[in-house]
Amino acid sequence: MPNLENYYITTPIYYVNDVPHLGHAYTTIACDTIARFMRLDGKEVFFLTGTDEHGQKVEKSALEFGESPQVFTDRVSQRFRDLTDKLGASNDDFIRTTEPRHILASQKIWKSLVDTGDIYLDSYSGWYSVRDEAYFAENELKSDGAGGYLAPSGGKVEWVEEPSYFFRLSRWQDKLLKLYAEQPSFISPKSRRNEVIRFVEGGLQDLSVSRTSFKWGVPVPGNNTHIMYVWLDALTNYLTAIGYSDQSGNTFQKFWTSALHIVGKDILRFHAVYWPAFLMSAGLPIPKRVFAHGWWTVEGEKMSKSSGNVVDPFQLIDTFGLDQVRYFLLREVPFGSDGDFSITALKTRINSDLSNDFGNLVQRVLSMINSNCDGAMPTPGSYEKEDVELLRNVGALLNDVRSSVEEQALSDALEKIWQIIRGANSYVDRQAPWKLKSTDQKRMETVLFVLSETIRKIAILMQPFVPTSAGKILDQLNVPKDSRNFAFLADDHSVESKALLPKPVGVFPRHLDT
Ligand code: MSP
Repeated sequence: MPNLENYYITTPIYYVNDVPHLGHAYTTIACDTIARFMRLDGKEVFFLTGTDEHGQKVEKSALEFGESPQVFTDRVSQRFRDLTDKLGASNDDFIRTTEPRHILASQKIWKSLVDTGDIYLDSYSGWYSVRDEAYFAENELKSDGAGGYLAPSGGKVEWVEEPSYFFRLSRWQDKLLKLYAEQPSFISPKSRRNEVIRFVEGGLQDLSVSRTSFKWGVPVPGNNTHIMYVWLDALTNYLTAIGYSDQSGNTFQKFWTSALHIVGKDILRFHAVYWPAFLMSAGLPIPKRVFAHGWWTVEGEKMSKSSGNVVDPFQLIDTFGLDQVRYFLLREVPFGSDGDFSITALKTRINSDLSNDFGNLVQRVLSMINSNCDGAMPTPGSYEKEDVELLRNVGALLNDVRSSVEEQALSDALEKIWQIIRGANSYVDRQAPWKLKSTDQKRMETVLFVLSETIRKIAILMQPFVPTSAGKILDQLNVPKDSRNFAFLADDHSVESKALLPKPVGVFPRHLDT
């Protein structure tokens, strides 16, 4: 048995200061789609998500709710776990940064940074934004119009003066630039990569990596008047979950270097600058790639509690269906670009892409088999040019789609699949199998066979994107559960079976306004 290729994919861990919203759902859905794709494509996948539970922001929110940080984080973290379930995510682990395994891992990496000589004690004075959990230089700030200052995100900054450990980030500037040059695919998309390079070329200051003015965090080894900076703690989750601190198994060795971190554009700097610097300093390999996706606005507006336009993913799924929401988010904008969410756009995708294009194709073909072939999969006669062409196109799809998914180009992948779906629909129109029933029964069977084969392959490929619906289509084609991975895309005749197909039921209903 050859060794399977390993694939490690992570979402950011979500802050528990707030309830889950569309932005969180988006990252998890994208990662889940990639994880499912890679598994079906024969890789051994580890897919991680979880919650980021320390830091001042979370401590403040707990206080506002009148709860202890532990009670508060237990409650809100559960809400994120519920979202993971609601999204049908196939994650292999759900990490919480308050877990003992993670405290151990964070302290372990800290000690490695100390051993390298990259940590020193000094005192910090400067501006800190609790919303971003980040420090800002004076020249990055703008006035809030009331005598105070704001970070670029709009978060209020406060002046902080306290003893602090520092990480010698300045020492890693050249090594980081070398890394970006030697491993051009480390940061994607390209435009974001250029932003990161410009930032690092601008010069790196040493980074304050501990706090003393509040308590909710991982104690610094050897000096527990300090807690670790929440981003150092948070980033380490990617190591914790695959066994960095226990070393008992070989999961860490197996997965670490294949890591793909999917993050929002707002947190790219932490992942593409600080994180590789921490890792290199700790003597650890760096991940394979960091991909930054864009942000969703809602009907043209920034999503925010104060605007009252925060999209609740639980409600959205209850109204429109999980696969419908997954498809929309993955298809509507190129992964990496910003997008605008609107109910109108969602309904259009549901009705035109899922219902009219894909749903109709499946429904037409299954109904014709049901009524014209007594519900049994037809046996093909000899192929004509158009049959061969359609089968060839659908046969070429895996390679095409794979190359998009490997680049995280998820909407491109769907567009490639849709080209085939549209092609198959016009093949149906041209061949008009319903007319062949009375004139050429064998030709009708051949056409219906070619179409069911096309649908089988499309449905297999669509499983990562719309798992439940694709599963229902494969059920209706009598495709056995163990014959649904991508190895079964190579074989043209695996649907040949005399077992009767179940009575067809629609998989993608139109969304009707009520
Ligand atoms: N806790 C940190 C991540 C630590 S990873 C070691 C964090 N958490 S977060 O909950 O604030 O954000 C999590 C993710 O949600 C980020 O990738 C962010 O980009 C994403 N989104 C938040 N709002 C979003 C939109 N409006 N649209 C798309 N994604 C957005 O940052």
